[in-house]
Amino acid sequence: MTSATTVWRDSGGRVLGGWGPLLCVLVGALVAVILPRVGVRVRVQDDCREWGGSTGLTVPFTAVDLLPYKAKPSPETEAEARAALQQAVEMRKQGKRDKAHRLLVHALNMNPDYVDALTELGTLLEEDQDVVQADHLYTKALALAPCDRRALVSRDRTLPLVDEIDRRHFGVIDGKVRQLASIPTGNSALRRVMEETYYHHVYHTVAIEGNTLTLSEIRHIIETRYAVPGKSLREQSEAIGVDAAMKYINATLLSRAGAIAVADILEIHRRVLGFADPVEGGRLRTGQVFVGRHIPPHPRDLRRHMEELALWLNSEEALQLHPVEYAALAHYKLVYVHPFVDGNGRTSRLLMNLALMQARYPPITVRTEQRAEYYGALDTANEGDVRPFIRFIAKCTEITLDTLLIATREHPVGLPGTMGGAGAHQDQACPDRHQTIPVHN
Ligand SMILES: Nc1ncnc2c1ncn2[C@@H]1O[C@H](COP(=O)(O)OP(=O)(O)OP(=O)(O)O)[C@@H](O)[C@H]1O
Ligand SMILES: [Mg+2]
Repeated sequence: MTSATTVWRDSGGRVLGGWGPLLCVLVGALVAVILPRVGVRVRVQDDCREWGGSTGLTVPFTAVDLLPYKAKPSPETEAEARAALQQAVEMRKQGKRDKAHRLLVHALNMNPDYVDALTELGTLLEEDQDVVQADHLYTKALALAPCDRRALVSRDRTLPLVDEIDRRHFGVIDGKVRQLASIPTGNSALRRVMEETYYHHVYHTVAIEGNTLTLSEIRHIIETRYAVPGKSLREQSEAIGVDAAMKYINATLLSRAGAIAVADILEIHRRVLGFADPVEGGRLRTGQVFVGRHIPPHPRDLRRHMEELALWLNSEEALQLHPVEYAALAHYKLVYVHPFVDGNGRTSRLLMNLALMQARYPPITVRTEQRAEYYGALDTANEGDVRPFIRFIAKCTEITLDTLLIATREHPVGLPGTMGGAGAHQDQACPDRHQTIPVHN
């Protein structure tokens, strides 16, 4: 007879006995290798112990160890990376900078966490005046080796320069916001383009996760509430959900800067997901999820993380940040926690736009074509440097501002790509340039 605790049964009731755990470990190892490569999101059961509790980034431990796996380079690969670095140093001394650059990229492909190669590439880029990228590489090196002297000294050099560059960019954005604010609210071109940006936001925010509805189909669904033949109900519900969430934000949250509660974020999500998945809409997830290599917090810690997020959103420290930085961080913090089974990206982009609009900046759109850059910046943030993500959001903000400003000029030469060639729509009530919505009832 076998003890009950060591016996596993498959669905047919067949005894797996002692093979069960072994099989489990093998499957676990295989999944752990495959997962990060394909970027699959997997939910695992909540009935598990956790480890890493004090880090704040808690992940479950199950019999099947489903941890996303970052492959450690083999000794041969490490040796190849070292050789490439040595050659690169030699090439740089000889003034063959392109070759040195290629060798360093090769070294980092072999071993992405190679601190000396990161610092050497940083030095090369700094000499080529690419201070921002150099600073990012030094920061990455320091995240891996906080006491690395060369990286420390180098970063001390680049950090003030980069801060100044970022500050100047914010200054340019603020100038454009002021220009926009000087356009009379009743300007019909402004009302038209604001309405276009509304539909563009709905289109891109659902398309970025694979929704196949076109811009005109989305417009048709939102304006008429008639279904588009041949398109899935789920896709149409996603568009209606974002529309409902944007209207909710405009109607209730815009005027409440510094007072965003967890319940408000849940209400946004309830609308984002509620039409497609009424059970999960507005509800914190109860299982673990993975986003590429990112492991969001354990479900049992979600309430605490969300309360901390709300505290931060309403804190004086956060509200004193530049609006673009505040909005980008609000977005990043929410996707980092990934509190929902689905719809985290859409909800985070809405929270970001709420933050921008509360500061009287226009809402922005992350376009589908920017998906790789967007996800890359989020990955970099997870590695410890959130500034590229803030810069990415700053860039999106500037593109939006340029679009609005060009569209309101008397004789516009042409809009930047952001409008995607969508036809202008009839004038409709557009209450405020800082709202996302021309409200259709
Ligand atoms: N490495 C990462 N770390 C943290 N968040 C990430 C990472 N990669 C992507 N994300 C975020 O996760 C979102 C996807 O999560 P989820 O599927 O729950 O959201 P969604 O709204 O359904 O999808 P989408 O944002 O793609 O429309 C992405 O949009 C992005 O905002
Ligand atoms: Mg999704």
